[in-house]
Amino acid sequence: MGNTQQARQHEYTLPPRPQARHLPGHIYTSPEVFEREKRQIFLKDWLCVGRLEELEKPGDYLALRVIDEPVVVCRDRTGQLNAFSNVCAHRGTEVASGSGNRQSFSCPYHGWTYDLTGTLLNAPYVEDVEGFQPTACRLPTVKLDTWDGYLFINFDAGCESLASFLGDAPQVYGAYQCEKLRLAAKFSFTLDCNWKLMCENLVDIYHIAVLHAATFGPHQPLETYKFRLTEGGYHGRFKGGTLTPDGKSLFGPMPWLPTELQSGGYSSHIRPNMAFFPRFDFFSFITSWPMDGPEKSQGIVYLLFPAEHFAQQDFQEKVQVYEEFIHTVLGEDVSMVQSLQRGFKSQAYRPGPFSRYEAAVHNMIAYNMKRVGFENGSVD
Ligand code: FES
Ligand SMILES: [Fe+2]
Repeated sequence: MGNTQQARQHEYTLPPRPQARHLPGHIYTSPEVFEREKRQIFLKDWLCVGRLEELEKPGDYLALRVIDEPVVVCRDRTGQLNAFSNVCAHRGTEVASGSGNRQSFSCPYHGWTYDLTGTLLNAPYVEDVEGFQPTACRLPTVKLDTWDGYLFINFDAGCESLASFLGDAPQVYGAYQCEKLRLAAKFSFTLDCNWKLMCENLVDIYHIAVLHAATFGPHQPLETYKFRLTEGGYHGRFKGGTLTPDGKSLFGPMPWLPTELQSGGYSSHIRPNMAFFPRFDFFSFITSWPMDGPEKSQGIVYLLFPAEHFAQQDFQEKVQVYEEFIHTVLGEDVSMVQSLQRGFKSQAYRPGPFSRYEAAVHNMIAYNMKRVGFENGSVD
């Protein structure tokens, strides 16, 4: 198939869902599309990079990377949270790695040292450099904001506020009072597929009863779902159990939840890459990240429980039950999204239609396509 013909196939995805077809495979393999996604989505949108309790004390920091952009998020001595590029002002080395607690960040290459706000404190052997003033030099600032304990960054200095970006999510999930939750477990996994596939998979309720028949499928009946599409995301309310092998909670409902939320929960998505799973007894969320190129990605999974449960003697054992179950469920998903990626490269692949239970998938795909400029007639 010629490139032009191939490139225009996405137009079959943009019409209303009943007439639409899934995307052609090259949208998930093309370096050009990947580059657009980086510039027009990941360098523009608010991105959830963790929870406030990961940076509780002055000096606590997290180093992370968003595609080609290394970032440090840390709490300074005044208690203020800061985010800055993890790119040394000398030659660009990453000044911090992993996570931990620091008084300052000293570049491992030639020793330029920065404080917890990213300002350069000193640089050795530069006395004769004309006009050089260490304190006028800093690691470039990245915007940072929080919502109910969730930590977000944004690379675009002119971006809209986080509150406006989140739309109605704070109202929809306000009753869960996420600021009263704490991170109990966090793990990551890598995927041999495009970053969009895990996002799409996590809003794809169509597969629940089939792929997850032996895990949570029976506890989250498809027929109970009521969902509302949002800009690039959705709120999917269902009635049913939690994410344990028998669907029963080991903790009981969060004490502050109103009666109508004391069963099931939501399977939701906050653009561009945050899958959001409030349950009546705990929260999990998964962020999906592009890695080096269009066919590698990483998922980061967070499990949050009410702070008051942490004192229970068997708390960690109970959390492990949830964590192991989520591992099993994700194993089912990972095998499918990696299989999709392989299928996209087959000359036999012809994109099929969207079921009505894929309305959120269609909404997400069409939104992402528009974000990168693939609207009718705009790209040849
Ligand atoms: S690159 Fe950081 S001090 Fe030289
Ligand atoms: Fe799934």
